[in-house]
Amino acid sequence: MRMIDLIRKKKRGLSLTEEEIAYFIDGYTRGEIPDYQASAFCMAVCFCGMTDEECACLTEKMMRSGDTVDLSSLAHTADKHSTGGVGDLTSLVTAPIAAAGGLSVAKMSGRGLGHTGGTVDKLESIPGFRTALTEEEFFAQVGRVGVAVVGQTANLAPADKKLYALRDVTDTVESIPLIASSIMSKKLAAGAESIVLDVKFGSGAFMKTPEDAEKLASAMVSVGRAHGRKMAALVTSMEFPLAPQIGNTLEVEEAVRILRGEDPRGYGIRTVAVRLAGEMLSLSFGLDPEEGAARAEELLRSGKAYQKFLEWIRAQGGDVSVIEEDRLPKAPYSRTVLSPRAGWINRTDTEGIGMAACLLGAGRMTKEDNPDLTAGIVLSFAPYDRVEKGQPLAALYSSDPARLDDAEARFTDSLTFSESPAEPSPLILKAIR
Ligand code: URA
Repeated sequence: MRMIDLIRKKKRGLSLTEEEIAYFIDGYTRGEIPDYQASAFCMAVCFCGMTDEECACLTEKMMRSGDTVDLSSLAHTADKHSTGGVGDLTSLVTAPIAAAGGLSVAKMSGRGLGHTGGTVDKLESIPGFRTALTEEEFFAQVGRVGVAVVGQTANLAPADKKLYALRDVTDTVESIPLIASSIMSKKLAAGAESIVLDVKFGSGAFMKTPEDAEKLASAMVSVGRAHGRKMAALVTSMEFPLAPQIGNTLEVEEAVRILRGEDPRGYGIRTVAVRLAGEMLSLSFGLDPEEGAARAEELLRSGKAYQKFLEWIRAQGGDVSVIEEDRLPKAPYSRTVLSPRAGWINRTDTEGIGMAACLLGAGRMTKEDNPDLTAGIVLSFAPYDRVEKGQPLAALYSSDPARLDDAEARFTDSLTFSESPAEPSPLILKAIR
């Protein structure tokens, strides 16, 4: 087989066989197929797409390029994945609800990159919390507590790691089969029998339109089903930040408030987190989705999910006294941003707000950066609010006062003020089951 023939075939819109896809992935992972041929191949996929069968096959070859986790010794294993956004702390709320409902949540999570945060960074903002557990510790904790969240092992889908880095610099990220196979290769390798996806669209999301988010969600659901997993997906809005607190420690603080019974006015975080947990319960126990959602709601309302959260944090070494006594670390510098004018805030450039949080130090511009865990933004308006000139819109936090000016400029540029009110657009557009 020759790589040039595979590129030519894909360039003409023809489908590749399993042997051809295996040849590409094995050869590329071993370094025998050069980056220039792999980039030409990815570009051909961007233009010509892939069939569902090719996408499922590509996913499998990437999944098998590294370690796979066998969770079959645990009952009702369930995982969730969000395509990422701003203030998206759903895992911190959804995972303890699901565990309190009897699921085994054995989760590998990523670190944040660019304007989107990562669950591992958020958890590490809790003093003492360990995101690196041995395999024995991980399995024992899931068996005992029902939930453990660790960083991805170095050898999880290495073919995807190499290919994703290449796609990032060759403008070939935005192809639905390439994204679906990339995400699903890691999710399948992590081993859960039920997987619920939260595919976001909008100004703070990777997919900008609902149509593209739905296509991606359907592609990922098909891939998961082709590999025998129980799958569901929600298509949800990231037109506004999902929660009013953005940044690692700030998002843990927000999660704790929600677990204690609060619901930030106008923001979608509580609704989406409960729906995701409901979908996980319904997939795993064969309930209808309304019953799954009702159970999730009850687990949150009764305080069982909060107790499970504390048990989980304690099990992974986190100091729960800082949570119970509201003593999470705070950034030493802050600034209040006042509204430059009056109007209705009917839309935000949500990616811009995420970038403002990054400028404060909360995120990573490159994989090597170390985020300032206390940095971030607390919004004091809700989506679609009317604000007056001079009214506080947000507080910016950082450990470095020199970062406040640029972050403030970026933050204010991300807001649009309208002359009249608007109808809120739907938060959860669709469920794919
Ligand atoms: N996230 C991934 O893991 N892979 C992609 O291709 C895009 C987003």
